[in-house]
Amino acid sequence: MDLSRSSLNDSAFLRACRGEPVPHTPVWFMRQAGRALPEYHAVRDGIPMLEACSRPELVAEITLQPVRRYGVDAAILYSDIVVPLKAIGVDLDIVPGVGPVVAKPIRTRADLDPLRPLEAADVPYVTQAVRELVSTLGPTPLIGFAGAPYTLASYLVEGGPSRDHAATKALMHADPGLWNDLLGRLAGIAAAFLRVLVEAGASAVQLFDSWAGSLAPDDYEAYVWPHSKAILEEVGQLGVPRIHFGVNTGELLGLMASAGADVVGVDWRVPLERAIHRVPGKVVQGNLDPALVFAPWDVIADKTRSILTAGRQAPGHIFNLGHGVLPQTDPDVLTRLVDLVHTESART
Ligand code: CP3
Repeated sequence: MDLSRSSLNDSAFLRACRGEPVPHTPVWFMRQAGRALPEYHAVRDGIPMLEACSRPELVAEITLQPVRRYGVDAAILYSDIVVPLKAIGVDLDIVPGVGPVVAKPIRTRADLDPLRPLEAADVPYVTQAVRELVSTLGPTPLIGFAGAPYTLASYLVEGGPSRDHAATKALMHADPGLWNDLLGRLAGIAAAFLRVLVEAGASAVQLFDSWAGSLAPDDYEAYVWPHSKAILEEVGQLGVPRIHFGVNTGELLGLMASAGADVVGVDWRVPLERAIHRVPGKVVQGNLDPALVFAPWDVIADKTRSILTAGRQAPGHIFNLGHGVLPQTDPDVLTRLVDLVHTESART
């Protein structure tokens, strides 16, 4: 029997994803690998983000840094939502302090041409990094992720980050045919990328629809939900837990849950107990305000305890922040937070 596999399957994180009893509430942090860590700055020095993502030994090292330092219950592959797009030849870059910037924004049908299907051969460095990581991580699960079609489309249509997503929504309403073709292609790319990750050894996946919360629920349901559902359905065949996350999604939680994920990510704007009522039967992940780490420790600890208490009402709870770790975060606070989650939630 392969012991490392069986203990991986028995890890607190994967047990919680499946809604099974856990020895303690598992915890990891979105953006746990990255700018809050001095060791990240040290290895990234002078190397552009997207280049770092294409160097397997660097990806492995950066992915492992928060696992070593914080003792989190899961690793998340160091990558970015635009990596699969770059891999099929879309002309884009990640500009420090700005985010993804696209050279030629998508506005017409002809602009869809570069969005061809993704194949494993397009991302050999991802397969290599994941393989290396799973052998090093042993019983600690590796989460793979992809950007959901709406969030990716917002960067492609706007040409970069946007506050109001005006051009994206204009395209959606003016030309639903083109919109559905765009999101259909992005769904195919995301599903193919997640398949590469799982086949290389990732034991769970997270679909990031970070900007879905900018949509009215009826528009989300009509123009976005079917595409995210298609990805989650396809990935369902791979037999790993699927997490579906967005920011500002209080009003969308029920719809996001019905798109087919096993776990629904919750941001801090919705009290966790209320979120649980909106996604009956689902495991939840979240939801400490990422800015709360700057509060006095007693405040952090109180809030963490109440989130853990609320989480017991769901079939499973994975502790996380409501969005990514802020770059100014003191890593020592996160180490302390992981310890607190583990000790407070330990079942005897
Ligand atoms: O969670 C992890 O530790 C894995 C790492 C991860 C990154 N990007 C690394 C990264 C993940 C999960 C992402 C996903 C991602 N990328 C999302 C969805 C998650 C979310 O935060 O909502 C989005 C919207 C992006 C697009 C993107 N990439 C943004 C907005 C930025 C920040 C730009 C900036 O400089 O402020 C990036 C760059 C990026 N991706 C960084 C990291 C660590 C920072 C740039 C750097 O380190 O040089």
